[in-house]
Amino acid sequence: MITKGTKQEQYESLLPQIKALLEGETDLIANLANICGALKEQFGWFWVGFYLVKPSGDEEELVLGPFQGPVACTRVKKGRGVCGSSWAKAATLIVPDVEKFPGHIACSSLSKSEIVVPVFKGDSVVGVLDVDSELLDQFDEIDKRYLEEVVSWIN
Ligand code: SME
Repeated sequence: MITKGTKQEQYESLLPQIKALLEGETDLIANLANICGALKEQFGWFWVGFYLVKPSGDEEELVLGPFQGPVACTRVKKGRGVCGSSWAKAATLIVPDVEKFPGHIACSSLSKSEIVVPVFKGDSVVGVLDVDSELLDQFDEIDKRYLEEVVSWIN
């Protein structure tokens, strides 16, 4: 169910729906896909998706996972771009203007602001949720709080 209202009201309505979707399912990819679908339908953001930490040779890389939006870069190294920095720092990053973020990886020139939230399993980061907007300065502490809650339900 899509609701109107403030951003906080939209999250308050959406989160129980996402929780209910996840509770009946143990498959990771299915759950990540539905989280993307729910967020994209409610907020209409330009791009919503997951990158998952996967082995690559002797190292690990972020590899594109379930998403909604235009095609995107498939691999991101640790510490690179907003996603790789969020992984390296194990912290949520809010970027009001991607052009001002050193090393930002532009999968699309239409993306203007971004929030990246790490997904934890225990103490390790196993992936990130990346949300991009075509407008500047679209993400704040409200998004951080609710998106961190959503990714805490992933197992
Ligand atoms: N902009 C991201 C890369 C992923 S895409 O935008 C979907 C980054 O700098 O990490």
